[in-house]
Amino acid sequence: MRTDTPVTIRRQNYLPFPYDIATVRLEFDLDPADTQVRSQLEVRRTGEGPLVLNGEDLELVSVQVDGRDWAGRYQVDGDTLTLDGLGTQARVEIVSRCRPEANSALMGLYVSNGVFFTQCEAEGFRRITWFPDRPDVMSRYSVVLRADKKRFPQLLSNGNLVKQADLADGRHEAHWEDPFPKPCYLFALVAGALTWRESRMRTRSGREVLLQVYSDPGSEGKTQYALESLERAVRWDERRFSLELDLDRFMIVAARDFNMGAMENKGLNIFNAAYVLADPESATDANFSAIEAVIGHEYFHNWTGNRVTCRDWFQLSLKEGLTVFRDQEFTADMMAQGLDAQAAASARTVKRIDDVVTLRAAQFPEDAGPMAHPIRPESYQEIGNFYTATVYEKGAEVIRMQQTLLTPAGFTRGLAEYFRRHDGQAVTCDDFVAAMESVYAQDHPGRDLSVFRRWYSQAGTPRVRVTIEHDAATRRCTVTLAQRCEPVGVERLPGAPAKQPFHIPFAIGLLDAQGRPLPLKQADGHEVRDTALLELTTEHAQWTFENIDARPVPSLLRDFSAPVIVEYDYTDHELALLMRHDGNAFARWEAGQQLATRVILAATRERQEGRPFALHRDFIEAWRSVLTAPGLDAAYRARALTLPSEKTLAEHMAKVDPVALAAVRDETLGALGRALADDWRAAVQANQTPGDYSPDPISAGKRALKNLALATLMAGRVDGATEQALGQYDTARNMTDRLSALSSLVNFGAADASARVLADFYERWQDDPLVVDKWFTLQATARGTTVQTVEGLMTHPAFSLRNPNRARSLVFQFCLNNPYGFHRADGSGYRYWASQVLALDALNPEIAARLARALDRWVRYVPELSEPMRQVLQQVRSHPGLSRNVTEIVSKALEIAA
Ligand code: TRP
Ligand code: ZN
Repeated sequence: MRTDTPVTIRRQNYLPFPYDIATVRLEFDLDPADTQVRSQLEVRRTGEGPLVLNGEDLELVSVQVDGRDWAGRYQVDGDTLTLDGLGTQARVEIVSRCRPEANSALMGLYVSNGVFFTQCEAEGFRRITWFPDRPDVMSRYSVVLRADKKRFPQLLSNGNLVKQADLADGRHEAHWEDPFPKPCYLFALVAGALTWRESRMRTRSGREVLLQVYSDPGSEGKTQYALESLERAVRWDERRFSLELDLDRFMIVAARDFNMGAMENKGLNIFNAAYVLADPESATDANFSAIEAVIGHEYFHNWTGNRVTCRDWFQLSLKEGLTVFRDQEFTADMMAQGLDAQAAASARTVKRIDDVVTLRAAQFPEDAGPMAHPIRPESYQEIGNFYTATVYEKGAEVIRMQQTLLTPAGFTRGLAEYFRRHDGQAVTCDDFVAAMESVYAQDHPGRDLSVFRRWYSQAGTPRVRVTIEHDAATRRCTVTLAQRCEPVGVERLPGAPAKQPFHIPFAIGLLDAQGRPLPLKQADGHEVRDTALLELTTEHAQWTFENIDARPVPSLLRDFSAPVIVEYDYTDHELALLMRHDGNAFARWEAGQQLATRVILAATRERQEGRPFALHRDFIEAWRSVLTAPGLDAAYRARALTLPSEKTLAEHMAKVDPVALAAVRDETLGALGRALADDWRAAVQANQTPGDYSPDPISAGKRALKNLALATLMAGRVDGATEQALGQYDTARNMTDRLSALSSLVNFGAADASARVLADFYERWQDDPLVVDKWFTLQATARGTTVQTVEGLMTHPAFSLRNPNRARSLVFQFCLNNPYGFHRADGSGYRYWASQVLALDALNPEIAARLARALDRWVRYVPELSEPMRQVLQQVRSHPGLSRNVTEIVSKALEIAA
């Protein structure tokens, strides 16, 4: 066991690497138990000092320089290999060995289901061979793979296949060459028995390219949607940003064991099988849409990440924020495709709502807790801990704000300028903003993005307080915006610099008392029809609108124009008006969420004070109006009728009592079910999707509304709901309907019926790992599940902690998404958490650290819970041999109490 002493790496300490490595030749003799890697590097000195290479869990066999044994002129010290006495140019040859079969961390070279895979981002290449494992060292790779031909018939790596040959002893080899220089984190190989589906297409400039999707034998019927998604992604990047596929061959491979979603290795993307394999019987609407989004995401990295990469890992959002933004836009365009203007606008709003829901549930809490960091962090102990909602999702919001400030056309020009300046380079976030700024300054003479850049250096979610003053005599309305952002995370430690105001694009509309939009005319004569973009760049600022007869109702932060929290004291009546009439569909949804938040929080306080639960009539009527108002499509209606999540609600509480909150949310749902039973039943009937299954957004929207209605009726224990759910479970012809019915039964149905359908479900699907994951998740999150239930499930033959998808489906789901079972006052949930963090840490530190984060906001909870949380955090921290990954998370949780 090894004990890591935490070392803090700082952005300001960046130094260029003192050698160029023009070419890398790698020869692999693949054997699951013991693989030999021969690496030849052409190095040229460009700075001072010896050649220092990284290596981890490697056995060093030999080191040669220019064909001579280098013994005595190199040292191995921990995880570095230092070579002295090199001339200006040298050919370095290193032979090493590693043990793929024993690699449970799934970083570097590992075996999954008998197939070799690699994962090199962020620092996995050093587990394959000795190398400067940093993204600013870019080289041309040629790769030779050798392996037993029977067991490993497919031998894949980056770029183009240039040669294949049979060898003695039943082995064979394949030679691959990648024409594009790349950092080592984009290296990949796959070797094994795989089946594939392929297609050919012509890129915009007329080149024919081969697209392939590989997966394990037997799954060939489940890769069609992935291949079609890839074709759509290729087309979309050509159309929207004029970016073309630059390789002759582009491969995607599905892996059953994978730490994250997917990886954008040049020309050889490796995916978690959950984001590749789907058919109507086994995958839900959500699975289909995630597949399209992740395939898009990894494909788009080919330009934003691979052609232009990161100088160092502090710049991670340079590629991730930008690529998430691109995949969000791709999904929005795919959802809107083929619809009339109004339906297309609604589809885009639905996508925006879904992204904001994710941001609020995952990123806002992170930005207020001990792990808070700017989208470009200043320091880290383990980079694997910074693949966060902040770097990804808030990073995407920061890119989106630039598009808002520049307009979409300006943003497209800015992106073209970015590639004109930096194609083939490893650059910084500041280089990106500078390219955007060059366009912004052309279009807005005298202005720049210097204040905007603070989004990259400051953490925290800004709060914008809105005040409205109306003067009947002058018919003027003044809007004041005031921003503040408390120090968070390490910003709270002594010596941190004071925080400065952000540049916040704030979209606003004004409605009259009937809910009609008011034209927005400013004193300088500038007039817009209904939405004004206010640019707040100082602590506070005012805008005055003219010709306004009476005090208007403001529609604020339309389309979520900035990742901020709005503070404005609406009356319930004003929220109800916005819910009915706001012309901005996003703000209209938001009004309903605010009303529901108010109702649930008030009821939670009442419950804590021992008063009975009663839902206010006005709230029921507001919900009825959304359920029955004409002109809304089903997908939008489903979002508007979904109560805010517990995670989002908890952010509004001074001290969180998760069980009380969950109970009140469930009671609210049940009360809505009973009060509006006839309308929910009508929604079930009106939103059936007979005929062949299609994952298109219109059909998926109908299923979303129908299944929400069914769950709400079940939560209300309304007569006939159980029969309806059982009927739907039995006759469903797609997984969305079957799983929704099952989930309603498991959460709100009688114990015997629920046990019966759960057993039936496992019986039917036991051979499909992705469906078995769903089966574990259902039980992990079910009301009624306790630590004992989960421990029982861990002894099920299908359970394994080594498979990340399986661990996530049971252990993570219980700790993160089961408030009733996890937050028991007896601390049993927390002790279970500690035992699982430690068990996982011995296998896979990256995964363990993600579970560790389940408690990082412990100080936010009521004292009866925060104290036992603190105890288990301390217990984990003092465990001998704890990984650097988990150490960073639990130390920050204990030391930077937010
Ligand atoms: N770059 C990957 C993405 O597209 C993220 C990723 C995949 C990753 N696997 C990883 C990051 C393992 C760290 C470790 O977002
Ligand atoms: Zn990515």
